[in-house]
Amino acid sequence: MANPAAKHPELIVHQADPYNAGPPLARLRQHFLTPPDLFFVRSHGAVPAVDPAAFRLAVGGQVQRPREFSLADLQKFPPANLIVTLQCAGNRRDELIALKPIPGETPWSADAISTALWTGARLRDVLATVEPRAANLHDELHVAMLGLDCVHHHGLDEGFGGSIPLAQAMQGEALLAWEMNGEPLPPSHGFPLRAIIPGVIGARSVKWLSEITLQPEPSSNFFQAQAYKHFPPDVGPETADWAAAPMLNDLPVNAVICQPRPGARLPAGPAEVRGYALAGAGRAIARVEVSADAGESWQPADLGADAGPAAWRLWSAKVQLPRGPLELAARAWDSAGDVQ
Ligand code: MTE
Repeated sequence: MANPAAKHPELIVHQADPYNAGPPLARLRQHFLTPPDLFFVRSHGAVPAVDPAAFRLAVGGQVQRPREFSLADLQKFPPANLIVTLQCAGNRRDELIALKPIPGETPWSADAISTALWTGARLRDVLATVEPRAANLHDELHVAMLGLDCVHHHGLDEGFGGSIPLAQAMQGEALLAWEMNGEPLPPSHGFPLRAIIPGVIGARSVKWLSEITLQPEPSSNFFQAQAYKHFPPDVGPETADWAAAPMLNDLPVNAVICQPRPGARLPAGPAEVRGYALAGAGRAIARVEVSADAGESWQPADLGADAGPAAWRLWSAKVQLPRGPLELAARAWDSAGDVQ
C-alpha cells in the first residue's frame, strides 16, 4: 500500500508496502494523546477493506453460547474509554541491530510507540455473554484473536493473530475498540474493530478483529507461535529455534530520550531533556532519572501527567550541560522495582 493520505507527511517510512511508519521523536513527544495521523503504523499485510454494515465478530470455541456480534451489538455494551499506549515489540530495534544484524526485520527506532484514548466494549463483558466453558478455571483457557488481513509468509496466506490468557482478559482492561481519540478507527489502525490489550506487546492488539476463539492452548498463529520470541544474545538466525523459544508478552520497563537527539549541538548551560517512559503488565512508572555524564551521576525527572499504568509518562528534566561532547542517558523504574 502506498503512503496512506491520512498519515502525516513527516512520518518516517520504514517499509512502503505493507506501510510501516513512525513519527519523528520530537513530534511524538509533543502530544500526550498521539494524533491519529502521527500514530505509528505496524502492519504485516495490506489494509483490508471492510464494510462496517456487513462486519461481524464471531466469538466461539470453548463457550456455552457461540455468537456473532455486529458493530451495533457491540456498541450496546457499556462503552469504556481508556488511555492506552501501544508499543511494538520491535521498538528500538535499530539499537539492537547496531550490535548485531537482525535480518528481515523492520529497523524501528524508538518510534514504534504511540498513545490514544480508545473507546469500545470491555473484552470481559463480551466474553461473559458467551459463557466460557471452564468458568472457574479461567487460567486454563486462552483468548485467540484473528484479523481480516491477509499476511503472506513462508508460502502461506493467513490473517494476523495472537492470544492472551483468559484470566488476563477477565481481570484486565482489554477493549474491543471502535474509536481512537473520539473518531472511528482509521483504516490503517484496524477499522472497524480492533483489540486493545494494555501492558503487553502491541502484537496482541489485533486489528480488523473478526474472530475470537476460546481454546486450551495459546494461538497457533505464526505471530504468536513462531514470531515475537525471546532469544539469548548468542543465538543467531541459523541457530534460532523459533517454535521452542519463550513468547514475548509483558512489556519491559522502558525510558527513551526524545529530545535532544544523538549528535545534537547545544550551547553549554541549562537544557531540557524530554522523553517518554512506559512499564508493562499493569505496573506504573515509579521513577525516571537522567544523567548528563554517561551514567556517573543521575537526577530525577519530572514525570508529567499520569493517566494510569496503561499510559506512558512524558517526562522532562533540566540538566546543566558542560562545554564539550557529552553522553545523555535515561533510566526508569517501575512499581515492582524493576529497573531498565
Ligand atoms: N493486527 C493485524 N490484523 N495485523 C497486523 O499486522 N500488527 C500488530 C498489531 N495488530 C498487526 C495487528 C503489531 S505488531 C502492532 S505493534 C500493532 O498492531 C500496531 O498497531 P498500530 O498499527 O495501530 O500502531
